[in-house]
Amino acid sequence: MNLEERYKKLADTKVIQFIEENIHTPVTSLVLRGSPFESLDINFLVNQIVGKKKAKKKLPTWYKNPKIIYPPKVNLEQTSSEITALHKAKITEGNTLIDLTGGFGIDDYYFSKKIDKITYIEINSELFKIAKFNFKRLSANNILCINRDSLEYLKDTNNKYNWIYIDPSRRNENQKVFLLKDSLPNVLKNKLLFGNKSQNLMIKTSPMYDIEMGYKELSGIKELHIISIKNDVKELLWIIDWREVNSRVIKMYNYDSGKKYSYSTLDKGLNHNDISLNNCQKYLYEFNSSVMKSGLYDSMASKYKLSKIEKNTNFYTSNSKINSFPGKTYIVKNNESINFKKLKRNYKGKYINIICKNIKITTSKIQNKLNCKIGGDKDYLIFSKTIDGNRVIEASKL
Ligand SMILES: C[S@@+](CC[C@H](N)C(=O)[O-])C[C@H]1O[C@@H](n2cnc3c(N)ncnc32)[C@H](O)[C@@H]1O
Repeated sequence: MNLEERYKKLADTKVIQFIEENIHTPVTSLVLRGSPFESLDINFLVNQIVGKKKAKKKLPTWYKNPKIIYPPKVNLEQTSSEITALHKAKITEGNTLIDLTGGFGIDDYYFSKKIDKITYIEINSELFKIAKFNFKRLSANNILCINRDSLEYLKDTNNKYNWIYIDPSRRNENQKVFLLKDSLPNVLKNKLLFGNKSQNLMIKTSPMYDIEMGYKELSGIKELHIISIKNDVKELLWIIDWREVNSRVIKMYNYDSGKKYSYSTLDKGLNHNDISLNNCQKYLYEFNSSVMKSGLYDSMASKYKLSKIEKNTNFYTSNSKINSFPGKTYIVKNNESINFKKLKRNYKGKYINIICKNIKITTSKIQNKLNCKIGGDKDYLIFSKTIDGNRVIEASKL
């Protein structure tokens, strides 16, 4: 039975039922029991079960569709999430987009809702077949699927696209990489080709990719988007418009687990005011991870008229409450020098959250000293270096 026939078999009601019923069964017992279907071996079924389980949070649309085929785990790990794919689709407009690194096709499914004609290219033939099959299942009918080296395809075609999208593979000879020069295909070596074949280019890079390096290596940058989900940076998106002279506008997004997000923007190229230092005031502010990744935290703080509690401590303070602050806000209840005996008297056996910032002590060491439990909704002990020396700030998260 060839792959396509096996994929079709997966859509049988009994097979779907088997997968649904065993979504929480440990893999080892599934393997021991073996496959109840003559034409589908157990490893193939286990891969589907593992894939579906992985998709639950990251890819809910795929998860909800019982006829979706899942690729091996390694390919699934490399896909965009639905939240970030939707974000990318919102940026684009026009009639044509070519994706040079199609993968499992998450990004293209969302692009296909925004752009008339999508060209999906994937070099890995098994992954290609799976994505093509799934596009049909998801009724995404405006995606042309091509199983080829996308650079070769781009060289051969006479088409010019409104958008080229590229999410290079961060695995090179089975090693994880995060530099653009090591990812596949090589974006840096092909800038000229991309420029000739598109009006706009969108490149997704690793959250670990250095922003200053990006500004040096790439050209025509219009915007950089830093996308976080639940305060964890997931993607850097470089939006390139070949007619644009390099701009340093950075847009920072922090999504919750749904589609809601907080947003801020700043132009890195402008001169920013120096940050003032002050002792801890009524409110403490901690920027979200997108702002931290941008490196623009002090400039953002100046914009909000905040002071910093110490030059190298990334906590900001003010007597005013900022309602739209992109990050966490704490109300300060007490601020004093650190006295572990006193703290132990107050917190022994109690639940409290502990943060250490720019101070040479760990949370676990503090927990041991205080004999407290870690947790609770909103109460924090923040140990940090301030302009008044090392302090402990008792605060509640708003
Ligand atoms: C990070 S994944 C893309 C994931 C995709 N954006 C998604 O959301 O599913 C990169 C993909 O690019 C493919 N790839 C790498 N070099 C390629 C090339 N020269 N031509 C076509 N595909 C390539 C890899 O096989 C891999 O599946």
